[in-house]
Amino acid sequence: MTPPAVGPSELRSTVQKAFRDHFGAAPACIARAPGRVNIIGEHTDYNDGFVLPAAIDRAIYLAGRLRSDKTVNVQSFDYRSDASFTLDQLKDDSLPPWTRYLRGGLWVLREEGHPVRGLDLVIAGNVPGGAGFSSSAAVEVAFFEMASALLNIPMTQPQKALLGVEVEHRFIGIRTGVMDQMISALGKAGHALLIDCRSLESTPVPIPNGVTLMALDTGKRRQLVESEYGQRREQCEEAARMLGVRALRDLTPEQLAASADKLPEVIARRASHVVNENARTLAAVEALRGGDLQAVGRLLNESHASLRDLYEVSIKELDIMAELAQNTEGCYGARMMGGGFGGAVIALVEDSAAAQLAEEVSHAYNAATHLKAYIYALKAGPGSSVEKLT
Ligand code: GLA
Repeated sequence: MTPPAVGPSELRSTVQKAFRDHFGAAPACIARAPGRVNIIGEHTDYNDGFVLPAAIDRAIYLAGRLRSDKTVNVQSFDYRSDASFTLDQLKDDSLPPWTRYLRGGLWVLREEGHPVRGLDLVIAGNVPGGAGFSSSAAVEVAFFEMASALLNIPMTQPQKALLGVEVEHRFIGIRTGVMDQMISALGKAGHALLIDCRSLESTPVPIPNGVTLMALDTGKRRQLVESEYGQRREQCEEAARMLGVRALRDLTPEQLAASADKLPEVIARRASHVVNENARTLAAVEALRGGDLQAVGRLLNESHASLRDLYEVSIKELDIMAELAQNTEGCYGARMMGGGFGGAVIALVEDSAAAQLAEEVSHAYNAATHLKAYIYALKAGPGSSVEKLT
């Protein structure tokens, strides 16, 4: 098992101390925003559908203060790297890639008509990057937590999340859904959140005692994800248009089955995944509430098969990892998580079986792929927050 993360209080003091060392003064604020896992509801968010993610006990921390000029100085504790730029250089892609989401946050704030100023910032975190835990959404949400406090801009949690989505759409150029930013801003310890991605209403769903959320990272980083993601989204929009509904969320599995022959074959398969995944997500919430973990597990396994066969966003390594987990004692169910084409599998595992599963699956995965698996036992933690220090 990948060793336990540096704890939240250590990370908080890390950014605080690094800020003092680097800028010679205390930060005015410390913001924190977690990464996430998604139990079920994959590729449903941009179809106005349902998702069931949980914030995790790993987060991005930002320490910061306002400056009186237009300069932004940032230190990344994790990359041991510094960057300086002005508010006129936000789109300068020669700056280090790890500054992108912070530059995007400032750019979106300014586009939204807020008076932005220079900042001194230190960033650190323990959300593994590129593995499907949405570390970039966590950076965005942490940034808006900090900006709302430093610039005195009142924002609700969903507003901070939606600004993060704007960064993806308008600055990074990927038309993601709202799931990652919403769960980072609104997560609740010990709970997953059922999020209705049309109304943005969210309902906490307790994670039953005795269950560990395990993330099994394949070590394969996402490839081609941006173009494939955009294409899937367009196919879903086309299906909705052809069937005369606002979004695929508006169809039941029965309604879709009755009119699927009106759709080209590939589009019908994409729509079938989304419509049935919405139904599975709602069914998983009922099963979790009723304590029927076997049923939740079956839904996870069905979700994986659908993402692999109908939505076609899995890769061999994700299939191997999911299957290994599914066939291990004490695992209720497992499936690929997030956008796909790499990243991690989420598995729901009996507490007492977690350590053994990590060992067996790592071993078998390595034997099958010659790759190293990174395995995390995670807890559902709280959503983002900001602390004013001065
Ligand atoms: C990525 C996106 C999310 C969501 C998932 C797939 O993580 O950022 O908005 O669409 O893929 O469920």
